[in-house]
Amino acid sequence: MRGCYLLCSRFGRVPSLQNHWRLLSTASSKTNAHSTTPSSPDPFALVAPELSRIRTDLVRLLGSAHPGLNEITSYYFLRPSKQLRPLIVLLFAQATNGLGKNWPFKKWASEQPRPGGRAENLDEPLSRANVLNDWNPNMQEKTSFYDPLHSLSIPPTSPTLAQPPLSIFSSTERTLTSPASVLPTQMRLAQIVEMVHAASLLHDDVIDESPLRRGSLSAPEAFGNKFAVLGGNFVLGRASAALARLGDPEVIQLIASVIANLVEGEILQMQDVESPDGEAVPSSQVAKNAWTLYLQKTYMKTASLMAKGARSAVVLGGCADGEVYKEVAYAYGRNIGIAFQLVDDVLDYEAAEDTLGKPGGADLQLGLATGPALYAWEEHPEMGPLIERKFGQAGDVELARRLVRKSAGVERTRALAVGYATQAREVLQVLPESEARAALEALTERVIKRRS
Ligand code: FPP
Ligand code: MG
Repeated sequence: MRGCYLLCSRFGRVPSLQNHWRLLSTASSKTNAHSTTPSSPDPFALVAPELSRIRTDLVRLLGSAHPGLNEITSYYFLRPSKQLRPLIVLLFAQATNGLGKNWPFKKWASEQPRPGGRAENLDEPLSRANVLNDWNPNMQEKTSFYDPLHSLSIPPTSPTLAQPPLSIFSSTERTLTSPASVLPTQMRLAQIVEMVHAASLLHDDVIDESPLRRGSLSAPEAFGNKFAVLGGNFVLGRASAALARLGDPEVIQLIASVIANLVEGEILQMQDVESPDGEAVPSSQVAKNAWTLYLQKTYMKTASLMAKGARSAVVLGGCADGEVYKEVAYAYGRNIGIAFQLVDDVLDYEAAEDTLGKPGGADLQLGLATGPALYAWEEHPEMGPLIERKFGQAGDVELARRLVRKSAGVERTRALAVGYATQAREVLQVLPESEARAALEALTERVIKRRS
């Protein structure tokens, strides 16, 4: 299992998978620690123009020569999403730009005609267009169709990139930019994280066989499984190309690892809850394994994108190794991401019962034991065999639902989410006060109070 990350030792209050047992046991007592402030800002309002631009501009990156493919790849972007992941990226940009050691360079580069520079240069192909053969009708002058002939003639080399004047580094004092700023690379990153998220949903709806998403037909329902998967892969391809054009290898690595984490999370979700190698281990050990698996999966499938997206935003803003801001971003994203998914798992029980009048627990039908079922297991040992066989026998789902309802599973999962959200809020105290920091704080409340 991975080690406790930097902030744990530095501030001693950030949860990791290793110390989640402490958090599990203290979650209930922390419920009130996450106090609500009546004057909390609306986190979405602060960057509303940027979010709107991101949404409209994003579809431009997805253009292809195939109208059918365009329809699939833009399908989830044309229905309003929460835009939570881009929001976190933008707010971290605003909450940290100016603070990092390399900020003067990033600021200077953002005004230059170079990769990772001005907004218009973020669309420039790094290999020439007739080598990429990736036609995008929305960027006709920068992309090219497949050509059956390829000449060996060597094209003129690109001009050498300008070097930054040394004077930009003359001041060592670093303060937040005023007014708050978002670099073109950070805007593009916000689009990329939304693209990765949408690609994962195109795949997820195939795996979950979901008929609906955001109140409309899901992509597999509308286009079929094959096209949903292929469309998701195409979105990932375009997101990867856009990522390379940000010109920062650390960010490429972070986001590429998110894609791997998403797949791992999905595989972990399919894994059986069982004793290792069939050994007879005490059931408390089996339960502990199940919790570890659940939280690990939760990080992989949900929190990783928020954590590494936030960290990438701060890297693009010039935070160097050894500076705390990228650790703060990662810790915040990780904690709010886990809180978000725990609430999602609660809503799977609560929302269906409240709003749809349906029995909650759709996850049970998918064979998934989430927080409420795992807590219910502590109170009702008969839940154990149901979890181990993934609620696969007739009557299992109904029995499990009853056991969850009889237990404090839903309330305890909510309390656990509050614990993670509180941790997310606390790490922000390392940042200087700003509107963006206040919005990130407010977002932790939104995440735990959401009803859909
Ligand atoms: C939604 O979860 C799904 C995810 C957050 C991640 C899905 C990841 C994959 C399918 C792996 C493949 C990904 C890529 C990028 C290749 P949910 O089913 O709990 O929520 P829902 O109710 O929104 O469907
Ligand atoms: Mg799903």
